[in-house]
Amino acid sequence: MKAIIVAYDKKYGIGADNDLLWQRNLPADLQHFKEITSGHAIIMGSKTYQSIGRPLPGRQNIVISRNLKPTNNGIYIASDLQSAYGLADIDKDKFVIGGGQIYALAINTVDYIYATEVNEIFNNATVHFPEINHAKWREISREKHTADERNLYNYDFVIYKRI
Ligand SMILES: NC(=O)c1ccc[n+]([C@@H]2O[C@H](COP(=O)([O-])OP(=O)(O)OC[C@H]3O[C@@H](n4cnc5c(N)ncnc54)[C@H](OP(=O)(O)O)[C@@H]3O)[C@@H](O)[C@H]2O)c1
Repeated sequence: MKAIIVAYDKKYGIGADNDLLWQRNLPADLQHFKEITSGHAIIMGSKTYQSIGRPLPGRQNIVISRNLKPTNNGIYIASDLQSAYGLADIDKDKFVIGGGQIYALAINTVDYIYATEVNEIFNNATVHFPEINHAKWREISREKHTADERNLYNYDFVIYKRI
């Protein structure tokens, strides 16, 4: 199975200054991300890898780059998206985890989008997710959550399936 996992705001903003728009103020989303992706392959652009700063444990980490050379620090390097899918272990699901450049490449290749929809507009967003075309994607589940002392915004966990 191939899927995208992403968190975006009401205008599909996903990042600024090589960081998340909500920075550390939505830990429930990080926990959700961990639950969905653990045991599987995660595929990311080199800027997203840089912003995370280390391979994420319990997952096969694959980084797409035109420049990075293969290393032995726990990540796989792929020169394009198709090679990244090819590097993933056969028994693992493949989750494209960002950022903007890699989502744009991947959106026509995946069967599912696991979206966290953050009910806020961040005017400083410089990186965006491609707008979801509801003629092509059907919402198959939605879990609503209200802000609390640690998660500063209302957010929904949504799954879209390609029609
Ligand atoms: N909200 C979310 O769910 C979420 C998730 C992930 C990331 N983000 C945010 O998104 C931002 C980063 O996204 P971004 O769009 O700037 O960068 P990105 O997609 O993470 O990485 C871009 C890099 O990927 C490589 N690349 C892109 N297209 C390629 C191709 N066709 N073939 C080979 N390599 C290719 C290049 O690496 P080289 O330069 O090494 O060649 C390029 O510089 C950050 O702010 C991050 O916090 C948000």
